[in-house]
Amino acid sequence: MSRPSILVARAVFPETLDRLGQYFDVEANPDDTVWSKSQLIEKLQGKAGAFTAGSDRIDTDVLAACPQLKIVANMAVGFNNFDLDAMTAAGVLGTNAPDVLTETTADFGFALLMATARRVTESEHFLRAGKWTKWSYDMFAGAEVHGSTLGILGMGRIGQGIARRGAHGFGMNVIYHNRSQLSPDLEAACKARYVSKEELLKTADHLVLVLPYSASSHHAIGGAELALMKPTACLVNIARGGIVDDAALAVALRERRIAAAGLDVFEGEPTVYPDLLTVPNVVLTPHIASATVPTRRAMADLAADNLIGYLTQGKALTPLNPQVMAG
Ligand code: DGY
Repeated sequence: MSRPSILVARAVFPETLDRLGQYFDVEANPDDTVWSKSQLIEKLQGKAGAFTAGSDRIDTDVLAACPQLKIVANMAVGFNNFDLDAMTAAGVLGTNAPDVLTETTADFGFALLMATARRVTESEHFLRAGKWTKWSYDMFAGAEVHGSTLGILGMGRIGQGIARRGAHGFGMNVIYHNRSQLSPDLEAACKARYVSKEELLKTADHLVLVLPYSASSHHAIGGAELALMKPTACLVNIARGGIVDDAALAVALRERRIAAAGLDVFEGEPTVYPDLLTVPNVVLTPHIASATVPTRRAMADLAADNLIGYLTQGKALTPLNPQVMAG
């Protein structure tokens, strides 16, 4: 019996390719080229499945041009690279990689918060540039983290992980805003209090963004929202570029309308809005919140399990549009 063909659209662990190769004819991308849409369409010809990262956009053009496609498995919890409605209409299953990265990503959110509040990278650049000649009382004095008010916008699993770290580890007063309020049990576990978005913006000393990207969260933090924040506040984005209006943020940082920002994701990444590269009070990292070897392995394993499960038995572990699986 002929084996299904799949495309692994970005470079991945050799062990993942070996495992997929036990079930499928695999076309891989060992050079890790980020393909254009037309290249992706060309590579997907005749493929029943695709293993993708968040950079591979699956939209109506791709779906129309690749009628053999049955499943696209994202090695990411976020899936804003999928037009999920179009995938459902085309009968293509989409899967993501939730849960396995929750704690690692929450760790990183907290690391970025700490680095931002305590000016870690700014002071390191100063030291490396040979500018450190003496200790002084106010050198790189930053914001307090312990005991301060931690605001979280988007209270899914990762948001809850950050809340627990803040409340239990750092004695922070945790407030959050989300599409829906958590159950009393979850709120108690996170020691978190639900507030309006306006109260969150006005009250938080540190605001961490962990909400999914969609048309409705585009520029959820723009000039108007930044203007509501305390001038001493820090903003951390580990969610997706596009949730923050990077141009408005660069102005707010330069004019010290907020104290500092920590950004792991950017509008139009890997390109970074140029002004963000020149303001000193921002910590910038290249979309690495889930990047530990065990977690990236677990994400790759889950994406592979989804492909194997669906193409060999009709069942995926983490379907985004399960109606396709049922149909
Ligand atoms: C995710 O899993 O969504 C991370 O942002 C990596 O893309």
